[in-house]
Amino acid sequence: MVARVIPVDLFDLVIFGATGDLAQRKILPGLYRRWKEGQIPEGSTIIGAARSDVTLDEFLSTTKSALQKYLPAKELDSDKVAGFLAMLDYVPIDARGTDGWQELAARMRTDKVRAFYFSVAPALFGDLAQRLHDHAIAHRQSRIVVEKPFGHDLASARALNATLAAYFHEDQIYRIDHYLGKETVQNLMAVRFANILFEPLWNAQYVDHVQITVAETVGVEGRGEYYDHSGAMRDMVQNHLMQLLCLIAMEPPHHFDPDAMRDEKLKVIRALDPVSAADVVRGQYRGTDGDDYLAESGNPDSRTESFVALKLHVSNWRWKGTPFYLRTGKRLKSRVSEIAVIFKEPPHSIFGAENPWRENVLVIRLQPDEGMDLRVMIKEPGPGGMRLKDVALDMSFAEALGDDLDIPDAYERLIMDVIRGNQTLFMRGDEVEAAWAWVDPVIAVWQARGDTPEPYEPGSTGPEGALMLLHKDGRRWREVR
Ligand code: BG6
Repeated sequence: MVARVIPVDLFDLVIFGATGDLAQRKILPGLYRRWKEGQIPEGSTIIGAARSDVTLDEFLSTTKSALQKYLPAKELDSDKVAGFLAMLDYVPIDARGTDGWQELAARMRTDKVRAFYFSVAPALFGDLAQRLHDHAIAHRQSRIVVEKPFGHDLASARALNATLAAYFHEDQIYRIDHYLGKETVQNLMAVRFANILFEPLWNAQYVDHVQITVAETVGVEGRGEYYDHSGAMRDMVQNHLMQLLCLIAMEPPHHFDPDAMRDEKLKVIRALDPVSAADVVRGQYRGTDGDDYLAESGNPDSRTESFVALKLHVSNWRWKGTPFYLRTGKRLKSRVSEIAVIFKEPPHSIFGAENPWRENVLVIRLQPDEGMDLRVMIKEPGPGGMRLKDVALDMSFAEALGDDLDIPDAYERLIMDVIRGNQTLFMRGDEVEAAWAWVDPVIAVWQARGDTPEPYEPGSTGPEGALMLLHKDGRRWREVR
């Protein structure tokens, strides 16, 4: 099935940090794919801006290599690549000084849609905003895209919001969380709010508990310094897992529009109970050389967690009494991101003790193999009497919608939303602050106690303590396959 492509308006997009890893690995390849699909109108300009004093030719050649490295060969049509590269421009710029800003102003081609992607160190976000404003490069209709991390805690997130607000209105600020751009995450909205089927069951009366798992096989790679100051709680839970939790737990918004959606998500974060220390497990992978956290992070005394599991309660009418278990970690057994809604036992079994009950589970798979499955009980086929069995009604999007299904990467979808001026899948300032306000006290507790994370083996499912977190409630994690 070929995805419908709706062209956007003519635009100028400036990528600050265009020679950096994110731009080369995700942003530019994503834009190429949108160009190849005909979504980007002729005459649009993508301007790379970075500190590196490279020539345009050098920038084009680096970008071409990045397309070759990060995209499958079948996507690289040489005419399309040439057409895309012809749309690119490059300006060396000093984010904290004056060099390059006049030049950038002169390269802008359209007054219509101007977007500025801040793919740089967070310390530069405020400088960029100020200079775009002072040099009159950004107009009232212009948009800025701000990468994560958005603050390190509540105080820094507030300060950053205030700095950006000095130069831009809230409707111009796109705080990116790439998890919101993932196809299945959006599908979660469709499943919940376009079907009558689940809503009557979507509450504490019928849902036993919810599990959100984001397991990675990678370690901290070359990002040791950043990661060691951050840890899984700040790097993943405060943003990605919190967003998934919001989408699962939120009330139906009155409309699929940015503020209606974000109002409902904010209510979920505000309804979170403080987490007790007994409901948090932190882990750190400890292996030999290559896959040892201390070696990879470059900090032999590190107490930073590369794994965290938590039990949360959303205190509102819908969810009171249903725990939400979240876990995420690096160097785990496999790469799996999923949300599982585990339903309660039927009130009465008519099939006797020989047919033990198995829970109904709705699983939303974010990656790999995006899709959904619903575990239900059926009768085992054959003449052996009434014997029950649980099976999965399994839908892989690729199988259901065709193998050639072209699912856009999260970044390409989100960048196009910026150009269209749609903030639905971006975080509002108050949402980010509320998430930090909830996360800060959790971190403060383990910092005050000087806790050391529990070691776990690389390639495992995480520390023992994470298993116990559910065992003590008579539950168990779904297997990380
Ligand atoms: C990033 C984190 O935001 O998300 C990384 O900083 C993490 O540490 C990444 O690896 C995971 O994203 P994805 O899309 O690969 O699940």
